[in-house]
Amino acid sequence: MSISDLFKPLTLLHGPAMRNRFMLAPLTNQQSELDGSASEFDQDWIEQVADGGYALIQTSAATVEASGIAFRRQLGIHSDAHLPGLTGMATAIRAGGALSAVQLHHAGHRARPELGGIPAPASSTTLPGVRALTTEEVERIRDSFILAAKRAEQAGFDGVALHGAFGWILSEFMSPLLNDRTDKYGGSIENRIRLTIEVIEGIRQACGPHFQIGWRLSVERYGLNLEQLREITAEILDRELIDYLDLALWDSAQVVQEGAFKGKSMLGLFTGLPRKGVRVGTAGKIMSAARAAQLLDEGCDFVLIGRAGILQRDFPVQVNQNPYYESPTLPVTAEYLRTRGLSERFINHMRGWPSFVSPGS
Ligand SMILES: Cc1cc2nc3c(=O)[nH]c(=O)nc-3n(C[C@H](O)[C@H](O)[C@H](O)COP(=O)(O)O)c2cc1C
Repeated sequence: MSISDLFKPLTLLHGPAMRNRFMLAPLTNQQSELDGSASEFDQDWIEQVADGGYALIQTSAATVEASGIAFRRQLGIHSDAHLPGLTGMATAIRAGGALSAVQLHHAGHRARPELGGIPAPASSTTLPGVRALTTEEVERIRDSFILAAKRAEQAGFDGVALHGAFGWILSEFMSPLLNDRTDKYGGSIENRIRLTIEVIEGIRQACGPHFQIGWRLSVERYGLNLEQLREITAEILDRELIDYLDLALWDSAQVVQEGAFKGKSMLGLFTGLPRKGVRVGTAGKIMSAARAAQLLDEGCDFVLIGRAGILQRDFPVQVNQNPYYESPTLPVTAEYLRTRGLSERFINHMRGWPSFVSPGS
């Protein structure tokens, strides 16, 4: 397919269509207020990307419970006090013409006590001296996801994206290594995916008919089993439980290193599944117009732009103007990021990412 195919609209099962194939990936930037309210810096960043030509913009990971926090100055959606800030973000995104989604997040066993977090493991063996969540506590967390989605709807977002990646709670429950429960949330794959499915179904019931639900899945580390994840995903696609699946690969060109699928394209394992009306996209080193277009040929309906969107906040506009567009080469200087509109808080966050900000700049 050609670059122009990236600018064709894409219908979703619920709500308005995406105007093109670019989605801004969720990007934690640690610039919210300490209570999780969106700060002027969050608003400023969102206003910048809102004008960037994306079809759908995801917020950074937002806490569905105060105790599920993983990052200092993480965005929050666990209280009505967060509504004014979230409303400002949703309004700015809509004014720019994109759809919007809050990424819903709970850190599970990786919640950070020094930030007010309460580690919430699926198993009693994950953290020394910390007992597994009871069934009632799991149900409470499920309900917090659903309440957070209602809040996102109230704030004017078109939908939510569930953070089911990187070992955070939904992914933790899917993992045979981190989940040794014997209640309805552990044991068989059906039980280990139950929390995710109850969250999705609860949101579908609680929110309006046009509300969009995305699900982010990562396939590596944290004891996740690729074959099982593929089965779970096949079921979620077959039942059309979500509007879009977002594959959180670190490299969209990744090849499976071991097991039954060794040597195959990781992306292909998921784009090859029947998807009915659900849309499928990936993140992972999409740093040029050509790579984005190539991913449509590889079976994606849309692409997620992460680091390239931090380097150049209007990546889709750049691609539209120049089919040969390539992101600047990393690392870049802090000054470069300043000229691209990043706040000092965001730049400091980026200093923690390998090979992103030139040392000493
Ligand atoms: C600064 C930064 C913050 C990120 N924050 C989140 C996040 O809040 N939630 C999430 O699911 N992924 C997060 N990610 C992962 C990205 O969404 C994306 O999947 C990953 O960076 C790969 O895409 P890329 O190669 O285009 O950067 C983050 C990545 C970066 C670089």
